[in-house]
Amino acid sequence: MSFPLIAPSILSADFARLGEEVRAIDVAGADWVHVDVMDGHFVPNITIGPAVVKALRPHTKKIFDVHLMISPVDPFLADFAAAGADIITFHPEAGPHAHRTVQAIHALGCKAGVSLNPATPAKMLDYLIDDIDLVLVMSVNPGFGGQKFITSQLRKIEAIRKMIDKTGRDIRLEVDGGIDTTTAPLCVSAGADVLVAGTATFRGGAEQYAANIAALKGVG
Ligand code: DX5
Ligand code: ZN
Repeated sequence: MSFPLIAPSILSADFARLGEEVRAIDVAGADWVHVDVMDGHFVPNITIGPAVVKALRPHTKKIFDVHLMISPVDPFLADFAAAGADIITFHPEAGPHAHRTVQAIHALGCKAGVSLNPATPAKMLDYLIDDIDLVLVMSVNPGFGGQKFITSQLRKIEAIRKMIDKTGRDIRLEVDGGIDTTTAPLCVSAGADVLVAGTATFRGGAEQYAANIAALKGVG
């Protein structure tokens, strides 16, 4: 597996053919499958729930990277774990007990990720970093695919890269929103090692997916 890892967001896939779309990105070289879960409350959009994650699970052996944009989070963790999530990422902005949520995710046997909105400082991670497996930097305001990359987040990625290196632990640094062949190398230079890409993966139809993913990895 070579860095950066590419995690296509199935938010940009054809929802009427999701199983087929997941198989297509799997063979096209996706490293992870990024699943955006939205509740119409924490973010202004509604997407999918655990039943869809469960239905997709038999279609690939790749890691299911489940991004919860929901509030509250804790009551739904067990359902996503049972549905086949490998990594569960949540927003500390969505509730008062982020550390408890990390503990709950680990107790379910999943890796725990913390996602920061564009306006949320890296400092939010100070007392979480030693316990988590992934940091997800939002480079757009969460809620929709196809938005423009917010450049100020590059400084945050740099700061979090330093924090991660200081821990000496194996923590993934993932970026989500507005990733294309222009912004991907900027994120990698800033220290990211996983790139979420919805629009840039799924554009052009299934015959383009492999080329799209290779281009984002910087080998296309
Ligand atoms: C936004 C989601 C992203 C989004 C990325 O709330 O978390 O995963 O779908 O979409 P693109 O790559 O189209 O910006
Ligand atoms: Zn996402």
